[in-house]
Amino acid sequence: MNAPFVIKGATIVNPDAMFVADVAISNGIITAVGEALEADLVLDGTGCYLSSGFVDLHTHLREPGKEEAETIESGSRAAALGGYTAVVAMPNTDPAQDNVATVRFVRDQGVKAGLCEVVPSGCITIGRLGKQMVPYARLAEEGVTLFTDDGTGVQDALLMQRALAIAAQLGVTMAQHCEVASMTKGAVMHDGECCSSMGVPGWPSEAEEKMVQRDIGLVRSTGAKMHFLHLSTAGSVSLVRAAKAEGLPITAEVTPHHLALHDELLRSFDPVFKVNPPLRTAEDIEALKAGIADGTIDAVATDHAPHAGHTKEQPLDVAPPGMLGLETALGVLNTATVVSPQQIASLMSWAPARIAELTERHGRSIAVGEPANIAVWDTTSVWTVSRDNLSSKSRNTPYHGMDLRGRVRHTIFNGEIVVRDGKALK
Ligand code: DOR
Repeated sequence: MNAPFVIKGATIVNPDAMFVADVAISNGIITAVGEALEADLVLDGTGCYLSSGFVDLHTHLREPGKEEAETIESGSRAAALGGYTAVVAMPNTDPAQDNVATVRFVRDQGVKAGLCEVVPSGCITIGRLGKQMVPYARLAEEGVTLFTDDGTGVQDALLMQRALAIAAQLGVTMAQHCEVASMTKGAVMHDGECCSSMGVPGWPSEAEEKMVQRDIGLVRSTGAKMHFLHLSTAGSVSLVRAAKAEGLPITAEVTPHHLALHDELLRSFDPVFKVNPPLRTAEDIEALKAGIADGTIDAVATDHAPHAGHTKEQPLDVAPPGMLGLETALGVLNTATVVSPQQIASLMSWAPARIAELTERHGRSIAVGEPANIAVWDTTSVWTVSRDNLSSKSRNTPYHGMDLRGRVRHTIFNGEIVVRDGKALK
């Protein structure tokens, strides 16, 4: 077991209170919260907030299948550096996470890496091909609580309705990538003024909103829990706001990049800014922020999507969509928006832990007897992102050269110090 240690002088961020205290950790558990605690090993928390570790609802780890872009180990390390103690692994691997063996493999590789908890999601359809339902009950027995075909949306409304009906019986959540595929063929960016003037094919807001609207209707008729992934448009926020006001069991996430970056960046034709759904307009960004402010948006999730250089560094129409996100999420959220420490902890830890049903171990209050899954972070230090200093195997960060305010100092996973003073210890 790990030697006991103390984190000194941080401001504890709990849902009901914020206060300065030392935190003692031993054998994976918080053993004391108070003043003047001592141990042989001391981590400095002064100037920092200390909360439950972050939980990412949306991480592409690429293993199995695309280990040249990321592995479960390299992605877990990037997660730990970003303050995450749990990440939900997206199912668009090869083979896809539509079967017990692959789900077990992903979870076990996470345990071997030992840097954060890797929580496999399951596919909604076999091979994410949109045709045939996965045996949800079998995967639920394996502990899968979130099902998604992320990377593509489920186009067939009847299949989606049946999937939701089963999900309602099992108590699991369906997470939708909202994109009507027939409206986005060949699209490289948001369909707006910028896109028209560049003369490239566009991805209209309606392609997202139509699926949000359809699925709200299906939730109403089935009573199943639905989580909307990476919402990007003002219209989607309005639809979810109204659905929540009706009391439907719907949750929603936005990514840091949709809060910070806009479609004008594509004028450079740089594929690093190509992402799905695409970067939108200033009005959309304002609406997403308003959604955070009034609770319509529950969580900030990274959609960390590593791509190897030989695929991403191709012309805009050929390059795959996606950008890195784990190591920069806190800094981007804190730089792009005005959020309190408790809002940060809620968006990045408490709410996502609830949505992924991880609250036995994650997203809990800092208190004696609680499992020690902890992030220590500040909202004031300014650092310059360099793609060469990130620990992901891929380099496709859109923030290269950008100054961000706010950074993770230490991450404690299962009572073990996995990141100390911004450096991964394994
Ligand atoms: O930009 C994206 N990249 N959006 C997705 O939905 C999938 C992801 C990926 O897997 O690269």
